[in-house]
Amino acid sequence: MHGLEIRDSRDSDLPAIESLYPRAFPDEDLLPLVRTLLAGEPGILSLVAIGGGPLAGHILFTPGAITGSESRAALLAPLAVAPEWQRQGVGTALIREGLSRLKQDGVAQVYVLGDPAYYGRSGFSQETGVTPPYPLLEEYRDAWQSLSSGSVPPPGQGKLMLPDAWMQPALWGP
Ligand SMILES: CC(C)(COP(=O)(O)OP(=O)(O)OC[C@H]1O[C@@H](n2cnc3c(N)ncnc32)[C@H](O)[C@@H]1OP(=O)(O)O)[C@@H](O)C(=O)NCCC(=O)NCCS
Repeated sequence: MHGLEIRDSRDSDLPAIESLYPRAFPDEDLLPLVRTLLAGEPGILSLVAIGGGPLAGHILFTPGAITGSESRAALLAPLAVAPEWQRQGVGTALIREGLSRLKQDGVAQVYVLGDPAYYGRSGFSQETGVTPPYPLLEEYRDAWQSLSSGSVPPPGQGKLMLPDAWMQPALWGP
């Protein structure tokens, strides 16, 4: 996309990330989670999209493990695009760069809980073998999706295990 730079976030991006989230998610306070992950979760992948002016977007990927599997996994969340930058390809570009980095790094499968109409555009499809850390409500089942990197065999069955910051039922429900 013209004029958009995607790079790893730096400590100096934190104020811009902190002002982005309430604008992208006016009804949800994801900042405590984002702060905790950025402050010290090992192996986190945090990318920002810079388009001139305020931050255009931010995406996080958290490494996880699948019970009964040796293969490496990651959770995509959250993804935030500034209102003035939405529907211009920023979210898609952040997803694409993150997936490419994770593939190079040997991550077998990336999971996301989100709108299938949106994530399906980036190749995600409903995941039925590996379950999220908490059971989902019936109406969210098709929102639980995954994408295989194709570089290593994906895990068949199991449960996604994530660091403590993600072990809050409220993050997986309405
Ligand atoms: C949802 C979000 C991440 C999408 O990022 P984006 O940069 O605006 O989206 P892109 O430009 O990559 O893709 C745009 C396309 O995706 C689809 N799309 C955009 N937002 C969508 C949404 N909320 N639901 C479903 N589809 C959506 C549209 O079809 C759009 O194409 P169109 O404009 O041709 O119709 C962004 O709008 C956002 O941050 N919203 C607020 C926070 C949020 O809901 N995040 C959800 C992820 S946790």
